[in-house]
Amino acid sequence: MSHQTLNLVDIAVDAGAIRLVDGVSLTLARGEVVALVGASGSGKSLTCAAALDALPAGTRRQGGQVWLDGAPIAPERLRGRVVASVLQNPRSAFNPVRTLGDHAEETLQALGMEKSCWKERIHRALREAGLDEPQRLLGLYPFEMSGGMLQRAMIALALASEAPFLFADEPTTDLDVIHQREILDLLAGLRERFGLGILLITHDMGVVARLADRVLVMDQGCVQESAPVEAIFRQPRHAVTRALVAAHLSLYPAQEITP
Ligand SMILES: Nc1ncnc2c1ncn2[C@@H]1O[C@H](COP(=O)(O)OP(=O)(O)OP(=O)(O)O)[C@@H](O)[C@H]1O
Ligand SMILES: [Mg+2]
Repeated sequence: MSHQTLNLVDIAVDAGAIRLVDGVSLTLARGEVVALVGASGSGKSLTCAAALDALPAGTRRQGGQVWLDGAPIAPERLRGRVVASVLQNPRSAFNPVRTLGDHAEETLQALGMEKSCWKERIHRALREAGLDEPQRLLGLYPFEMSGGMLQRAMIALALASEAPFLFADEPTTDLDVIHQREILDLLAGLRERFGLGILLITHDMGVVARLADRVLVMDQGCVQESAPVEAIFRQPRHAVTRALVAAHLSLYPAQEITP
């Protein structure tokens, strides 16, 4: 796929009279990982949701545009085709009474893909996401899968879409350390192999140090600082950035901080 650069321009979100996201802009290129960090409630998830026109009830996009390769693109053309997404809580993203196969069919149908290609495409995506035995897995219901399997399944559905960009909102929350590492290795591999551009929302500065090229720090609905990952750790400027880095270093003082 030829798309190379995605720009979120001046995204704003309100709930009633309250501004929750205020003029957030960012650039994401193919093959790049941009981390969006900040305290809980700072507006990270709403920024992504607004770009994809998938805001929760009670919130409204008040402005902003998304540009693809220098031209504006409507969110419905973006979603699934240009930008795949992995959500904060994998269990809530699946319908409990439908199998993984049902979800896969729904995803591929929504993309307008030829039905004769579905099976091959989804089997390949499941294997790429580290899930063996795709035929058996497609028959499983969400309650029959572990949190780690669901997270991989969500990544597999994103991969099956062959979108050039991925929004990953806390893709490793609720996972144990081993599964966290596996998912992060998977994302790093996808960037390498397919040149996926990844917008990664995370609380974990260890994950940022490991995966991100650039970091945007959000606070109270605004981007407060934006810098390459080395600068974020070595010369954090904003108080929120300093707090995030200090908290990380107090937990992992001996850890190598540069990727
Ligand atoms: N549906 C909603 N209606 C009203 N306010 C909302 C709604 N969803 C989120 N908010 C508010 O918007 C703000 C930003 O929420 P958002 O989910 O983007 O935060 P976040 O940075 O993703 O936090 P976290 O790290 O906890 O996921 C918060 O103050 C939240 O309370
Ligand atoms: Mg969030």
